[in-house]
Amino acid sequence: MKILGISSGTLNGANDSMCKEGLMGAQEAGAEIEFINLHKLDIKHCTGCIACVKSIMSGRGRTCALKDDFLWLLDKMLDADGILMVSPIFENGVPGIVHTVCDRFGPSMDRGNLVIADMLSKEHGGPGVDPRLLQDKVISFMAVGGSDWGSLVQMDHGMVAMSPMWKIIDNDKFQWSKTILMDDKALARAHQIGINLAKAAANIPEAEWMGPAGVCPHCHTNNFYINPGTTHAICGLCGMEGELEVKDGAIVINYPKEQYEMAHDTMSGKMMHGKDIQENEGRLADLQKNSAEFKARKAKYKDFIKPSVPERA
Ligand SMILES: Cc1cc2nc3c(=O)[nH]c(=O)nc-3n(C[C@H](O)[C@H](O)[C@H](O)COP(=O)(O)O)c2cc1C
Repeated sequence: MKILGISSGTLNGANDSMCKEGLMGAQEAGAEIEFINLHKLDIKHCTGCIACVKSIMSGRGRTCALKDDFLWLLDKMLDADGILMVSPIFENGVPGIVHTVCDRFGPSMDRGNLVIADMLSKEHGGPGVDPRLLQDKVISFMAVGGSDWGSLVQMDHGMVAMSPMWKIIDNDKFQWSKTILMDDKALARAHQIGINLAKAAANIPEAEWMGPAGVCPHCHTNNFYINPGTTHAICGLCGMEGELEVKDGAIVINYPKEQYEMAHDTMSGKMMHGKDIQENEGRLADLQKNSAEFKARKAKYKDFIKPSVPERA
C-alpha cells in the first residue's frame, strides 16, 4: 500500500515538514511512501481547451495540449492508494499551484465522465480508460497558515477530491504556524493524520471520514453560499441545497431527501451534471456549425481588439 505526500510549501519549510511528519506516521502504519514538492515540477495553467475530455470521450486515451510534468504527477497520484496533500494557506485558501492541479484534473478526471468514456471505448472494441482512473482512493489534507486567515482552505482542499471522487479522511488546518516545528501537538496531529490515511488506504471500501462533523452533514464542509434575504443555502463543496435553521444554539442545514442524489461527489450527481453539460455543449456546437448570427457576434468581439502582450527579445 502506497501513500504519496504532496507539499506546495517552500522547500524544507513548514509544509514540507508537516507532510513528512504525516508520511512518517503512514510509514509506521505499514505504507510505502513517496514525497513530491510541487515547486520542483513544471506545471502549467489549464487553458480550458477541453482536449483532455474530448480525447477520453473519443477513446483516444487522455491527452493534454500542455507539455509539462502534469502527466508525470498524475501517474504518481494514480499509482498511490492514498494521497496526503499539504498546502500553505494563501489568501484564505489554497495557493494557485493547487488550484492549477485541480484545474488540470479537469473534466477528464471526473469519475462520471470516466465511467462513460470507459463504456464508450469498450463498446467500440477499445481497451477502456486506464483502470487506475476508476479505482477508489483516499486522500487527506493539511493546510498551514502564517496567520489566522484560512476560512476557505478546507473547502478548496476538498475540491481537489471532488472530480475523481476520492474519499477524504482528514482535512485539517493549522493557523499561526510559521513556527509549527516547535508545536508538538500539531506535529502529533500530522503524524496521526498520516496513520489514519495509511489505515484507510489499507481498507478503502471501509474507509470513512475521520475528522470532526462539519455543518454539511454530507461532505463536512463549513462553507456555504447563502442566497441573500433567505435561509436558502448551497454547500460550497458538494453543492447540496437546503434551508438553514438554528437548533440548540447552532446553525444546521436541512437538505430535502432528493438533494442527496444530486451531491457533486456522488455518481448520480455526476451523471445529472454531465447530462446538463452535454446538452449545453450540444447547443454551442449547433450554433458554431449552423448559426451565421453566432459567427457574426463572435467575429465582432474577436475583431474589436487584440490582447496586449509584452515585447520579447
Ligand atoms: C502570497 C501569500 C499569501 C498568504 N496568505 C495567507 C493567508 O491568507 N492566511 C495565512 O494564514 N497565511 C498566509 N500566508 C502565509 C503562508 O501560509 C505561510 O508563509 C506558509 O504556510 C509557510 O509555509 P512554508 O514554510 O512551508 O513555506 C500567505 C503567504 C503568502 C506568500
